[in-house]
Amino acid sequence: MARINDNYLRLKSGYLFSEIARRVKEFQGAHPDAKLIRLGIGDATQPLPPAIVAALHAAVDEMARAETFRGYGPETGYEFLTELIAKHDYGARGVTIAPDEIFVSDGSKSDAANFQELFSPDAVVALTDPVYPVYLDSNVMAGRAGAPDARGGYDRIVYLPCTAENRFDPPLPERAVDMVYLCFPNNPTGAVLGRAAFKRWVDWARGAGAVLLYDAAYEGYIQDPDIPHSIFEIEGARQVAVEFRSYSKTAGFTGTRCAYTVVPKDLTARSASGEAVPLHGLWFRRQSTKFNGAPYVIQRAAAAVYTPEGGTQVRAIIDFYMENARLIREGLEAAGLTVYGGRNAPYIWVKTPAGLDSWGFFDKLLNEAHVVGTPGAGFGRSGEGYFRLTGFGNRASTEEAVARIKSRLKR
Ligand code: MLT
Repeated sequence: MARINDNYLRLKSGYLFSEIARRVKEFQGAHPDAKLIRLGIGDATQPLPPAIVAALHAAVDEMARAETFRGYGPETGYEFLTELIAKHDYGARGVTIAPDEIFVSDGSKSDAANFQELFSPDAVVALTDPVYPVYLDSNVMAGRAGAPDARGGYDRIVYLPCTAENRFDPPLPERAVDMVYLCFPNNPTGAVLGRAAFKRWVDWARGAGAVLLYDAAYEGYIQDPDIPHSIFEIEGARQVAVEFRSYSKTAGFTGTRCAYTVVPKDLTARSASGEAVPLHGLWFRRQSTKFNGAPYVIQRAAAAVYTPEGGTQVRAIIDFYMENARLIREGLEAAGLTVYGGRNAPYIWVKTPAGLDSWGFFDKLLNEAHVVGTPGAGFGRSGEGYFRLTGFGNRASTEEAVARIKSRLKR
């Protein structure tokens, strides 16, 4: 009989959001009349903006004509898009990134999950705790996490607790690590890092010879002008960091799928023989072997984000979700809950009421308010005692959810 990759057996039973979906489905089966409001997964609800829809239509029409039809595209993205990214997402912020340092893909989830393939199976990984589960699970699958430990984690992972006590600002690792995943604005806590904190990480990585895998999927939500949008705004980051960016949460591409990863050419890691090897070449090799590029029509749609109309329309979507975040944050505060995030991020991180752990609060809200959120413990052990809500709902259901939660908490 063929052998499986036993590392899969070390994964926690289900991917967090699949597990929530399973529980919700079970609840719905038992309560078919309950009107559920879903503020659990951070999925876009606003439709694609008109400038993007127009670009999609035009690109589909191109594909329908022999003269403009396109087959395989460049694995790393069309230049029309990578040039716009380099100019608008980086150049406009004073950061120089060459278009060929940008790898367009079908999503930051896949890029963040796949990038670990470039590192040795025994590389040591540090993760903030709580954390977006993809960083952990992809390393468990690769055999890098070690065995499950008594505290619900894995014995080879270095956990960097982020709690209210340290203002959700991860401490530097106390032991040698090779790779650190950072995500700011943070999923799930909604916390942001200031320039000094970014610099501390970059300086540390340079000294430690570590690589920072920086997930900036939510940078579009930053409101505070002093907060960096890119790790490459910090001097020296090009030698130690990659950055994941996505159109999912900004332009509503969760179903349309387009993202990119920046791998600077001067970023290196070492081979078994101690030679410094550029990760850019390895990632190119990996992507060109396993991926044929994001679809042409989708890249045309992404390019429309950078038109004046597209930019304005995307900004309006972000403002809409941020207003939801404000309504949730202020509503729950008025109900007496302690609430974090939601100011520079679409996520609201709520301290669970006394006597209820994360899943207990999840069950209470599901059963009594018919509101679906995400239990903090699902993001890691330091997430226990917290609960995440998202600003990605539509307005009426967000208001209704806040009203229902308030009324349940009063009883
Ligand atoms: C989340 O809810 O954490 C996100 O939607 C997950 C993702 O972006 O894959």
